[in-house]
Amino acid sequence: MFKHAQLETVKAWMIDPANGSLPLHERIQRALRSLILEGVLSHGKPLPASRALAASLNVSRDTIEAAYTRLHAEGFIERHTGKGSFVSASARFLKSHSRQRQSAAEVREPTLSERGNVIYKSGGIREFSLPRPLAPGIPETRLFPVHTWERLERQVLKEYRHHALEQSPPQGTERLRRAIAEYVNLERGAHATPERIIILTSSQQALALCSHVLMDSGDAIVVEDPTYQGAQKAFKAAGLNTLAVPLDEKGLSIESLNALTEPAKAIYLTPSHQYPTGVTLSLDRRLAVINWANQHQAWIIEDDYDSEFHYEGKPMACVQGLDAFNRTIYIGTFTKSLFPGLRIAYMIVPEELAEPLTMARTLMDGHTASITQLTVAKFLEGGHFNSYVRMMRGVYVARRDKLASLIEQYLADFVVGITPSGGMQMPCHLKDGLSEAAIATAARRAGIDMLRLTGLYASQPAAAGFLMGFAAYTEKEMEEAVGKLAALFRLA
Ligand SMILES: Cc1ncc(COP(=O)(O)O)c(C=O)c1O
Repeated sequence: MFKHAQLETVKAWMIDPANGSLPLHERIQRALRSLILEGVLSHGKPLPASRALAASLNVSRDTIEAAYTRLHAEGFIERHTGKGSFVSASARFLKSHSRQRQSAAEVREPTLSERGNVIYKSGGIREFSLPRPLAPGIPETRLFPVHTWERLERQVLKEYRHHALEQSPPQGTERLRRAIAEYVNLERGAHATPERIIILTSSQQALALCSHVLMDSGDAIVVEDPTYQGAQKAFKAAGLNTLAVPLDEKGLSIESLNALTEPAKAIYLTPSHQYPTGVTLSLDRRLAVINWANQHQAWIIEDDYDSEFHYEGKPMACVQGLDAFNRTIYIGTFTKSLFPGLRIAYMIVPEELAEPLTMARTLMDGHTASITQLTVAKFLEGGHFNSYVRMMRGVYVARRDKLASLIEQYLADFVVGITPSGGMQMPCHLKDGLSEAAIATAARRAGIDMLRLTGLYASQPAAAGFLMGFAAYTEKEMEEAVGKLAALFRLA
């Protein structure tokens, strides 16, 4: 009949706080159902008489009857007058199902498409999603004006009432598009109108959209060498062939770009702060890239991911604003300037691309959360964005200088730090004879995250070293991390 252990399982379900919102009969019904699904109560097994089970569980008989009635309605048990309740015959088909779920050893290898395999094997871009010292590219969130944000979000709900709960237009709310257009025209020298802006969840989504809508599998796209791994993986996932062009201290080599023999449909650039070297693309080269794109009828995909944080004067105007031929797709994100959990980015696109790209985004995720968009719009309109960015620029430049001096003081025998003029991370080149992989692994074990540089290069041998983040860590946190690193380097 019903074993002691099975009775204990039902009792455990009854008192589990996670089931607190369920009525008693439903907790008992679910407990019995799980015993059946897991094969503990197999088909044909008699269930205790409702009176006996009620007494064992110290509940009323009506409660057990209600549980049995539901199990019967769902087909898990059969009830025979005068004989009692039994696990239904169809439960024998459930057994293998439950076994499959239980045994980790029996989990199959995923059968994926070729494209699926490329994506899976790439490993995605999950690393450094949390601010463990010195993970690169992560902004400080502890200084964000949460109270202001809360107030603006409440205002959105008050002003828009149930409309704030409705779907946003797939292109994004007019109000946010207008606020962004004003901001990028003023601060980045862009040529944007609300009609040419598409609000997205992330720059990553923008890269996926461009790859799929503007190019076909097998097409070529030019990338900087080294380049941002998120972009490289997005292009590979879309079946694109990346043509890596080297850089020097003025940015992308125009000579190498012009020497390419394979025709390319697009070029991906991080002009204001090259990822990961930190170089700024000079004005003459920006104009040369624009000319190249016009000559080849190629698109320029400009990833302006952290230009808000420039520490030596104003950043140079974006390529999009300089491009008289209108071949540039500008990608901006609030991941760095506000916070990574926000999930709002945007593209400024040539007029004729606004509709096709918006249409394609409806097949990806439909639209971006309305309340969040409206809150960001208010944050921009009210001047909070500018003052927050101004404050954080001060915080980040001090942290950059602190990291540079810590590297100079404690790590000078092992690495050469290259102080960037902007952004949230510092490239550091390893001195000869040290293993990038071994140090990165030992550092990770010691609670320090650094991005290895060699993985970002297409050409080999690549410059070995690390990208070290400074934006999300206090001076004390960086002191501790660099202290641990110095000890690791001495052992290496
Ligand atoms: C060059 C570059 N582009 C884009 C992004 C990501 O932005 P988003 O969070 O909007 O996808 C990053 C993030 O680290 C980045 O380094």
